[in-house]
Amino acid sequence: MREAARALLEANTESVTRDGRVWRYSVPSRRSYPHQWLWDSCFHAVVWSLFDPSRGCDELRSLFHWQWPNGLIPHVVFWHPERVYLRKWHHLESPDVWSFLPGHKPRTTALTQPPVPATAVERLVLAGAEDFLAEALPVLDRYYHYLASERDPDQDGLISTITQFETGLDFSPAYDRAIGARSRFALEIAAKSRRIEIKNKLAGYDLKRIFAREDHAEDVLVNAIWIDNLKALARLARRAGHAELAAWAEAKSAQALQSLLERAWDSGRGLFFSLVGSAEIRTEAKTIQCLLPLLIEDLPGEIAERLLAHLTDSREFWPAYPVPSVGLDDPSYDSDSHIHGIRLIWRGPCSMNTNWFLHQGLVRHGEAGYASQLAERSQELVERGGFNEFYGARSGRPVGAKRFGWATLVTDMDSA
Ligand code: GLC
Repeated sequence: MREAARALLEANTESVTRDGRVWRYSVPSRRSYPHQWLWDSCFHAVVWSLFDPSRGCDELRSLFHWQWPNGLIPHVVFWHPERVYLRKWHHLESPDVWSFLPGHKPRTTALTQPPVPATAVERLVLAGAEDFLAEALPVLDRYYHYLASERDPDQDGLISTITQFETGLDFSPAYDRAIGARSRFALEIAAKSRRIEIKNKLAGYDLKRIFAREDHAEDVLVNAIWIDNLKALARLARRAGHAELAAWAEAKSAQALQSLLERAWDSGRGLFFSLVGSAEIRTEAKTIQCLLPLLIEDLPGEIAERLLAHLTDSREFWPAYPVPSVGLDDPSYDSDSHIHGIRLIWRGPCSMNTNWFLHQGLVRHGEAGYASQLAERSQELVERGGFNEFYGARSGRPVGAKRFGWATLVTDMDSA
């Protein structure tokens, strides 16, 4: 499987010559996603760390090259302007108000994605790319400081997204209610989630104006990854002898965890829920976000236990092929993400990146048995259906884009 993973990442590799250098990265899928995405590239880099760390460093270099002066790492880089279209979301998510005029194609979006870069850098450094640390650390320092200072309007340590497309879980039903959409109406969900993006574009992506509205969110998946990655950043900083950065990252991580526990933990339901707007109204749907804090090493044991009870319940998140992106018993669960023929992703089928996070969570909380089961079932999915974007949680059938990059994460899930 490792050989097949490597072959796929190679087949999806783009080499672009620019500013006298050759940049290499893998597109998530040649047909459906022909650009560079932030968290996809981090996942690709993790997989490259298993067999060619230097190729993994190139993957991240191509992404880091586009970091904004304020520290933001964009969620998509459009290396090929000829692949940018007006009828897609490309212009809508780009910073330039005039981007739709001829000759004004955007180069990046104005959004970011779950902050996985520190984990990706750490994996490469531990795999032997020690020199990459000095190059990557200043980029990480600026990125995580940007998130802490620009994306935390209430200064509680939890970072905010400005559209659900920043969570990486695009049409997750977690946000249906917040955007005022009914969960069986695909066109309404699509239109209302994009309406927020239209407002952002009209606000020129000015964060002050965006945060003055009430549709930003402190997403549980994003913040679980934030808390975990701040720890990775602290370890990297210590390794490089930057005690001050290490202390900052440790303290931020602890503050964010404290707030997550105080604000997003629902002790009645035994799950975490994302918080919308300055009133921090909790989302209600039972989605995979609710479980993601299992990734956090310092999560109190009694809370991890309660999450585990939901995760391993066959009526909720542990069918034949765990882990579905929405609990099977939630009214919004959809087995193949199609509502009335329209494809809206993250509404039921399982994805290898969330399996990979939860696999780590299970290992960290001493659940080796469940961790191996998850790894075995994930391997079975790939053996039967190839490296795919999603898989049906009951049927195991591949759903969505084929030859999909981050499905190769399965090779990093130990079934021993
Ligand atoms: C979809 C996913 C997002 C991913 C992108 C590229 O938009 O929701 O998480 O990064 O595709 O694969």
